[in-house]
Amino acid sequence: MRADHNAAIWTDEAQVADWVASSAQRERTRSAHRQVMVDLLPFADDEEFTFVDLGAGTGAASRAVLDRYTSARAVLADFSPQMMAEGLSSLASYEGRFRYVTMDLEAPGWPAELPKSSHAVISSLCVHHVPDERKRQLFAEILEHLEPGGWYLNYDPVGAASPVVADAWQRVGDRRDPNAPAARANRTPEQQKRWENHVRHISPLEPQLRWLQDAGFEAVDVYWKDLENAIFGGRRPH
Ligand SMILES: C[S@@+](CC[C@H](N)C(=O)[O-])C[C@H]1O[C@@H](n2cnc3c(N)ncnc32)[C@H](O)[C@@H]1O
Repeated sequence: MRADHNAAIWTDEAQVADWVASSAQRERTRSAHRQVMVDLLPFADDEEFTFVDLGAGTGAASRAVLDRYTSARAVLADFSPQMMAEGLSSLASYEGRFRYVTMDLEAPGWPAELPKSSHAVISSLCVHHVPDERKRQLFAEILEHLEPGGWYLNYDPVGAASPVVADAWQRVGDRRDPNAPAARANRTPEQQKRWENHVRHISPLEPQLRWLQDAGFEAVDVYWKDLENAIFGGRRPH
């Protein structure tokens, strides 16, 4: 694995433990968004299919899909042994329906342990960790690893197109969470590092939609959006 800041954060025991400890609270809001992603997949509830979850972490997105589609199988890809270890234990009740593969999303080319082609690819809250040029390549690699008609859906924070938009998003966010301004102003050095790592490669939606189209996806759309969070993607043509 590359020795960069993002990798250092996601392989730091204390930072991962902190992320895991606070994830239940975040999931209370996110679970409704994850259901939108699940609803967008075009499968019958009992249909057999395989999907890949990129930057899967502890498996929150995969779990939502596996719960709805009872014959689905997940291949979860991530580069953090600590996040994958957490996922292995929290997904124990899905044994036989999932496996983890080590993958660095920044490295071109997919590990041989990933299926050459799957029925769907999802990613949530991780593509923003890679630089734009790599996002672009990754979208093309995802298309190549999908069956014809297969969907790619990405749930990710996106950048504001202007400072006025960014201010409006923050204003609404602060109304929803009155503790947010104080939390922002009083980050510990570790929280500040994590924040900077979180935002450094976040990009606006428009270029990302174009890269999906350039990669060859059809039906590219923003299927859901709330302030900075969006679910967008498309389908590999038949
Ligand atoms: C915010 S967590 C999201 C995890 C999960 N997808 C979810 O929705 O809860 C980000 C995940 O992306 C992974 N990640 C970050 N950069 C990565 C990279 N370059 N290659 C593979 N995984 C990466 C981290 O290890 C972490 O598990």
